[in-house]
Formats: sequence, structure tokens, C-alpha cells
Amino acid sequence: MTECLEPVAAASPARRLPVRRLRVDLSRGFDRLWNGGDAFRTHYLNALSMSFPVGEQFFIDSVRTGAGMLPPARRAAWDGELRGFVGQEATHRFVHAQFNGELERQGLVNRWQHWARRRIEASRDMHPVNHVAVTAAYEHFTAVLATGLLTHPQWLAGAPAELALLWRWHAVEESEHKNVAFDLYREMGGSERRRILWFLHVGLLFLVESTLQTWLNLGRAGLAWRPRTWWQAARFLAGPGGLAWATAAPLLRYLRPGFHPSQLADAREMAHWLEAQREAYAIVADS
Ligand SMILES: [Fe+2]
Ligand SMILES: [Fe+2]
Repeated sequence: MTECLEPVAAASPARRLPVRRLRVDLSRGFDRLWNGGDAFRTHYLNALSMSFPVGEQFFIDSVRTGAGMLPPARRAAWDGELRGFVGQEATHRFVHAQFNGELERQGLVNRWQHWARRRIEASRDMHPVNHVAVTAAYEHFTAVLATGLLTHPQWLAGAPAELALLWRWHAVEESEHKNVAFDLYREMGGSERRRILWFLHVGLLFLVESTLQTWLNLGRAGLAWRPRTWWQAARFLAGPGGLAWATAAPLLRYLRPGFHPSQLADAREMAHWLEAQREAYAIVADS
């Protein structure tokens, strides 16, 4: 990947990204099989949560450093949107760290965070455009998963209201800020080839690490070798309305030259959800 980094025509970041404080209290803990008693659905989402605090800090650091490399006039144009992005991701980190604290009390061990930390450390000397490309790739994964979560209520069927709220709030905000890292990458002059290669790299890592961490969680819970768990996995991943069907096509769209995240359909459910949950959050900052 040796193409020179010629900035493209400036994007025009002007989206509102409100930072919401969620009125949830995780201090009382929650059930070990909180997601409707379904071992696979519970431990798959637990695994994702385990990756968030380290991953989201990396996203924050990457976009801050990337934006810092823009010419001063353009940097100023990005200020509001970056503040919103950082505020949203920092709030996600905080809430998922509390969620993960409960998982730890339940005896689960978070290995994913160490794999991610080691990788971040090893990539420290790379040009920051690579970090923004990796961030944009992960942000595409989270945006696609977010749309899936908002449009497939069965993924959270039977979850306590507070936890369903937490996951849907995170999903809505991922959908809201899905363009940020991508647009910054373009403005830094990142090429299509580099963007696509990093996505393939990230996609492979995500598949392997989410599977391993889910498997470890199920093992710690003594549920890995139960036929019922395998049936639940098959149903959640490949059953009607399952994860694979909902995410494969939109994920692969990232590989098309000329792709932009705004081409993904926003979940219509997003606006309804925000409206219906007005009592459940307070807007603490609005960029
Ligand atoms: Fe997030
Ligand atoms: Fe995000």
C-alpha cells in the first residue's frame, strides 16, 4: 500500500451527533442468561460488549489524530462532528465497562480486549491514515450490526427492558455516526484500495475474535457443549431473520469501489425508537 496520500475534495461534515446519557442502572447486576434465557444470543452480545471499551478508545484516538493532520481551516470544520463522535463513543465505553464489570463478577474472562490491545500497540508506528481506515472498517461492522439489532426485535427477545434499552441506544448512535471515520479517511486522502484491504483484514479478525470470545464465554458458563446451545447458535446465525442473512449483503457492499456508508438504509425504526424512549435518556451535549 504505497499510494501517496493526496487529500480528496473536502467533505462537508455537518451532522448533528447528540450525546445522550442513558438512565440505566447496572449496579444491581443482571441475570447470567439475560438475553431471553438464550445462551448463544447472550454470550455473543457479551463478547461484543467485551471488545467495546478498548476498541472505542482506539476509534476516538484514531479520529482525533487523523483530524489533527488536516489543514487548520478544515480541522475547524470538523470540530463539532468530532466532538459528537468522541462524546458518543466515550459514553458507550463507560456504559459497556459497567456492563463488562458485571460479566466479570459472573466469572467470564475478557480475552478480546488483550488481543485488541496487543494489535493496537503493534500498529503504533503506522501512518495514522491506516488507523482511520481500520476505524472506518469497524464502524461499518457496528453500523450494519446496529441496523440488524434495530430491525430484528427477536435478537433481543426476552431481554430485560434496561438491557434492551442499552443495546438499542448504542445501535442508534452507531447508525448516527457511521459516516464520520469514513469521511475523515477520504479527506485525509486514503485510497479505495487501502480502505478495502483494511476492511478484509478487519472482517477476518472480527469473525475469528467474536467467535473465539463467544466460545470462551460459553465454556466458562459450562454451556459450550450443550446441544441446545448449538441449536440456539444455528437459529441466531442462520435461522429466519438471523444474523448472517441480515448482515452479509450490507457488509460486503463495503468492498465496492465508490461505496459510502450513507448508501446503507438507515433503520426507519431508529427515529421511532428515539421518539418512544424520550424519558430514558437526557441529551447532555449536542454538536
Ligand atoms: Fe460505540
Ligand atoms: Fe462507533
